[in-house]
Amino acid sequence: AHEAPKGPHTFTFAGGTEGGWRVRSQQVWRGANIVEAQSVGIVDERAENVPTKAAWQLRGVVSNLRYTTNRDRQTLSGRQPGLGRTEAVFAAIIPIRKSAAWWDLAQDERRQVFEETSKHTSIGLDYLPAIARRLFHSRDLGEPFDFLTWFEFAPENEPRFDDLLARLRATLEWTFVEREIDIRLVNS
Ligand code: HEM
Repeated sequence: AHEAPKGPHTFTFAGGTEGGWRVRSQQVWRGANIVEAQSVGIVDERAENVPTKAAWQLRGVVSNLRYTTNRDRQTLSGRQPGLGRTEAVFAAIIPIRKSAAWWDLAQDERRQVFEETSKHTSIGLDYLPAIARRLFHSRDLGEPFDFLTWFEFAPENEPRFDDLLARLRATLEWTFVEREIDIRLVNS
């Protein structure tokens, strides 16, 4: 019988020459770049071995929600698409690190910046169901980034994705972002 694996659900994103997603572009928005890879693979550490040879590896865990109200969660679950849609052959992996000033805030202050002031969720909802997303937390793993953000969309929706990024980057929340790299991919 198959026994369910224990521990947090950890994923490794590996940039290199193998992996199902070919890199189309890589742009630094803030901070230092990482080595440019030809392709990116995503490994579920519960199921697969992590590749030993990679240009870079970034790890993240699927975690609980921090800032989402019950009402927001219901709205999101009614509108957000799943990953792996056949038409969503474009993707983006955007690793993000926030500043010490962000992490020094209390939980209620972070929520205030994130939603009441910056309207992160309500901005994001404008782009559903075009954009599918998944958030990975890396900070507590001692990683170079705090978050690995993953998005999937159809090629014709890439201009909308760019518009979404521009709106988020203009918010108070993004003044706390000190490192961000935008890596665009195509399913290959
Ligand atoms: C967190 C929604 C797009 C970066 C969140 C959370 C929600 C959300 C609800 C909070 C999760 C929680 O409660 O802990 C959305 C929606 C989007 C979207 C609906 C539309 C596609 C983006 C984009 C980026 C981004 C384009 C930038 C690359 C982040 C980050 C966090 C986050 C870094 C973690 C923030 C923190 O914990 O400090 N998003 N988001 N999101 N999102 Fe988005």
